[in-house]
Amino acid sequence: MIELRESWRIGPVEVPTRLVLAPMAGVSVQAFRRQGRRYGAGLVCSEMVSCAGIEHGNERTLGYLRVAADEHPLAIQLFGSDPRAMGEAARMVEAVGADLVDLNFGCPVKKVTRTGAGAHLLEDHDLACRLVESVAGSVDIPATVKLRRGVANGSRAALELGPKLVEAGAASLTLHPRSARQMYTGTADHSLTAELVSLVDVPVVASGDVTSRARAQVVLATTGAEAVMVGRGAQGNPWALREIVDGDGAPPAREEVAAELVLFVRETRRELGDRRAAGFLKKFYGWYLGGGRFPKPFKQELVLLDSLDEVERRLLAAAPGAREILERLEAEIPSGDEVTLELPISVYGGG
Ligand SMILES: Cc1cc2nc3c(=O)[nH]c(=O)nc-3n(C[C@H](O)[C@H](O)[C@H](O)COP(=O)(O)O)c2cc1C
Repeated sequence: MIELRESWRIGPVEVPTRLVLAPMAGVSVQAFRRQGRRYGAGLVCSEMVSCAGIEHGNERTLGYLRVAADEHPLAIQLFGSDPRAMGEAARMVEAVGADLVDLNFGCPVKKVTRTGAGAHLLEDHDLACRLVESVAGSVDIPATVKLRRGVANGSRAALELGPKLVEAGAASLTLHPRSARQMYTGTADHSLTAELVSLVDVPVVASGDVTSRARAQVVLATTGAEAVMVGRGAQGNPWALREIVDGDGAPPAREEVAAELVLFVRETRRELGDRRAAGFLKKFYGWYLGGGRFPKPFKQELVLLDSLDEVERRLLAAAPGAREILERLEAEIPSGDEVTLELPISVYGGG
């Protein structure tokens, strides 16, 4: 039986458990990452951040580079296709205090792939290696890569590309063994993960369809991966992380669910501001409150509310014990550690 609560390393970075919280666009805000750490994730990741957005000083993009003291170890993920700009962006990632800089070679979305980024790189090995070389040569923190198996169904491109990426300087690889074409359909074929492990001498992380401790154990044992990554299984369900790491599968009480959701709402408001947070949070209501935890109409009610104050009020009224849990949670988690961003005015230092 593989111990999930065991540390492993990516270069000099020690990761305290074998569970990594997946980068997810539109999900992996700071509140999600901090919660993930509290529930047992040994490493958390930002969603993919546009290298071009960093280069142009886009305010929203720079907002993604916010690191809280209790997130470490944290990977910030970049996507892009220009080696020089990627190297510069990686320096920025290092400057804001990330422990790892991760490169996205798996995003299947056309808007991304047609710029030569994301899953496109699974077919352009020369550019993929130049990106890794540029990033690894620009920063002292480890550069890591997250990839899919390939673009077309059945592709084995990751097995050819993986060793080249390691040669170019990648300190770890995460494989989501679905093709880009598959998006999220079908299943993740972790026999490819096992093959990749046998081909490289850096830690490999297995991503895809891990939602329980039993599955995590099977994937670790059959692939030789150092860790498993959990994405969709953790949406609105940090308790799944606890089950995977500690084997504590007790379903959360309603009060606990409401308290975690209110905390999530509060933190996300601080991070994104009221207007953006209101829209962003709507999908989380279903994730938290579904699965029989709360009656269906309650979720629909929350989604229709525009005021987040009102959302909080309804949640606390629906589960009266939640207020006490919330107070305890807020007392426990470090506050006042909103990291002040000391971002340079220009990444390129003027001129
Ligand atoms: C909503 C959503 C957004 C995602 N965004 C990213 C991303 O920004 N970067 C990335 O490398 N993978 C992204 N992924 C892929 C996940 O990190 C993960 O590899 C995939 O969901 C399979 O794992 P799972 O079965 O545990 O969800 C995303 C997945 C989902 C569902």
